[in-house]
Amino acid sequence: MASKIKKIAVLTSGGDSPGMNAAIRSVVRTCAYMKVECVAVYRGYQGMIEGDFENMNARSVNNIINKGGTILKSARCEEFRTPEGRKKAHEQLIAAGIDAFVVIGGDGSFRGAMIFHEEFGFPVIGIPGTIDNDIFGTRYTVGFDTALNTVVDAIDKIRDTASSHNRLFFVEVMGRDVGHIALNAGVGAGAEEILIPELNLGLERLLESLKRSKISGKSSSIVVVAEGDKTGKNVFQLKEYVEEHLPIYDVRVSVLGHIQRGGTPSCFDRVLASRMGVKAVETLLEGKSNLMVGIMDSKITLTPISQAIKGHTKIDKELIRVCDIMST
Ligand code: F6P
Repeated sequence: MASKIKKIAVLTSGGDSPGMNAAIRSVVRTCAYMKVECVAVYRGYQGMIEGDFENMNARSVNNIINKGGTILKSARCEEFRTPEGRKKAHEQLIAAGIDAFVVIGGDGSFRGAMIFHEEFGFPVIGIPGTIDNDIFGTRYTVGFDTALNTVVDAIDKIRDTASSHNRLFFVEVMGRDVGHIALNAGVGAGAEEILIPELNLGLERLLESLKRSKISGKSSSIVVVAEGDKTGKNVFQLKEYVEEHLPIYDVRVSVLGHIQRGGTPSCFDRVLASRMGVKAVETLLEGKSNLMVGIMDSKITLTPISQAIKGHTKIDKELIRVCDIMST
């Protein structure tokens, strides 16, 4: 039976992540392949409310697979949180003859999509795009892998100067409330300690570990701190705390910040985004909606958006053990 969906919109929403362009490209090209019209929405839900649309074809997304950021721009839109804002957005979509949309973003963007679907019965599919990797129903989000490589690269550079001066560095990484970036990049960069929100082992343990590092003859120490960690101290306060209790250490702080969100997407993120874009369009054409595309055990999966935003992702406890052993 022919699908009722003839025109699909695509938008990026919330914090950008590397690989979002590859996902946009995939949605646009899959629409072209399936002979379905495709419309870009600029500036996330804000652009939807304002009718900031542009027709796309396969050529509109030439040479973007390798670009960081999002060509469609992104926004965290307050107005879409209101029923009035969503009504305006719905009117714009209907006026443009759009039958469904694919939103590439994080949990806030998915929550908006789910409410919109509930209010108007409008078909929506989510593609998880965030560096935080904090979405339930997918092992990886688009952008996480690239962010990890950026962080590891930065810490490698910090290590050079740290060991030249026998210094200890606290390196703060992003991740909002979760420690996936800190834990994975910490192990990948050979950090001595990793502080994550999911497991607060306390400051005493940190001091003990740093003492052991010094005694064992290490020339530098890196402590990776997730921005949402639960020690009750930020990286600058941690520096003061260690200087006070372990004056043998010369301590510095580096907050990596938004460099973690930019840059050329890794091959992993490009492939992931391409696979997810295909599945998103195919799912809409099959008449399904209110689902998020994910990846589990290398297979592309679908999870109800309601579960994706409510569930909590779990950190890999094995990595904590590996970090402990490696920092011997
Ligand atoms: O969700 C992605 C993220 O980069 C988080 O890691 C971070 O806490 C937040 O966005 C920063 O948001 P903004 O760019 O609005 O400052």
